[in-house]
Amino acid sequence: MLTIRDKAPVTEPERQYYFMDLCKEHISRLAEELGHQPTCCVTTFGCQMNARDSEKLVGVLERVGYQLIEEEEKADFVIYNTCTVRDNANQRVYGRLGALKNKKKKNPHMKIALCGCMMQEDVVIEKMKQSYRYVDLIFGTHNIYKFAELLMASFEEEGMVIDIWKDTDKIVEDLPVERKYSFKSGINIMFGCNNFCSYCIVPYVRGRERSRASADIIREIEALVKDGVVEVMLLGQNVNSYGKNLEENITFAGLLEKIEAIEGLERIRFMTPHPKDLSKELIQVMKKSKKICRHLHLPVQSGSTAILEKMNRHYTKESYLELASYIRNEIPDISITTDIIVGFPGETKEDVDHTIDVIKAVEYDSAFTFIYSKRTGTPAAAMENQVSEEEVKEQFNRVLETVQQVAAKRMSLITGQVQPVLFEEINNHDASMLTGKLSNNATVHVKADSSMIGKILPVKLTECKGFYYMGELV
Ligand code: 5AD
Ligand code: SF4
Repeated sequence: MLTIRDKAPVTEPERQYYFMDLCKEHISRLAEELGHQPTCCVTTFGCQMNARDSEKLVGVLERVGYQLIEEEEKADFVIYNTCTVRDNANQRVYGRLGALKNKKKKNPHMKIALCGCMMQEDVVIEKMKQSYRYVDLIFGTHNIYKFAELLMASFEEEGMVIDIWKDTDKIVEDLPVERKYSFKSGINIMFGCNNFCSYCIVPYVRGRERSRASADIIREIEALVKDGVVEVMLLGQNVNSYGKNLEENITFAGLLEKIEAIEGLERIRFMTPHPKDLSKELIQVMKKSKKICRHLHLPVQSGSTAILEKMNRHYTKESYLELASYIRNEIPDISITTDIIVGFPGETKEDVDHTIDVIKAVEYDSAFTFIYSKRTGTPAAAMENQVSEEEVKEQFNRVLETVQQVAAKRMSLITGQVQPVLFEEINNHDASMLTGKLSNNATVHVKADSSMIGKILPVKLTECKGFYYMGELV
């Protein structure tokens, strides 16, 4: 007798749609059993790439008949899309999983699934097998497209279903996606990273670089625009490498020009470019563009050439500063933001002085500052001179203070101006206000009606509050 697996189509995405149909039948039986439509809750840790992956998970879950809810304790299906870039992200997942154990006891129907970067680590899988036996399904970053098939497997099989791939060269198009926002969307343009910065675990958990064909990207954006999207965020670990493994002859700057031509699209953002291969061509494309936002996130990580070398970043303090000043000269109204790591092995106070020099010279509009986190398997984890927590704290505070001073100064420069704002959501503290974004990515709070969500309207920036503005519709 043929099993359901033998009958499944071998080509993708048809195979996954076949399993979605099977899951749907299962969920409708479950609904009868439970007396309500089964509910699901998706929790995302980490970066925008994960946020986009979670939209793909929700796309499948809703299609097979789950209702998406916010309250985890009421959910029949709970999934954590995990991050492992720093150890505290892992610890949060372990903590939340521990708490879920009791909830599952109260609701035996509850299914628990884990996916994302943390699951690509062997030590994590071992720990799951040992101490978290109540988890039903575990998969990784390379086979997320198989979610429907794996979900069906976990409905059919007793115990933990685990499917982790080491790497892939596969990109599956045209699977369902359920966007969190109707008017903006992330778009994967490439997957993986080949840079191997010595502190970073991403290349080990996200695999080698693979770009999507430009025609697929354009087709996806055109469909999104027809569906009401006005802003896209192009996603990749190192967007400057876009196109390198494709047969078609295209660069990231070339891709941006094609996207610019899409009628109805208003704003284009992207992240993250690597400073080592940010081309002047890209800056020129940004300069003449009407749609690319006036924002460049350009992670510096450290201002010390010696540390940058140990980080395997392939640029120096001087070359980074030269690049930043070229950008500021070409596009004066651009905001430049960054990521900084403090406490890399061997980092001295003098190294941090160099980082502070760079912050002051570039005048970042904002910056994410991280304390170095040792990631097993990366070259930096094996380096001598790991810095003590006490020393890091002191240096971290110096960096943070400088960032805050510089950012507040930059922010105050445009107070009083009128700028277009994309209204994104109702303000967390005051329901009569909306929160929106300027082209340069700064946040603005404005008294406005919820019907304006998703619209781009001119706003006067009446007051700068350090990290955000208060504004008025004009
Ligand atoms: N420790 C601290 N921060 C890290 N990042 C990446 N790896 C580590 C690590 N091991 C930071 C970098 C990167 C951002 C996404 O996370 O600054 O740009
Ligand atoms: Fe990590 Fe460096 Fe790749 Fe960014 S470019 S994901 S920091 S290895």
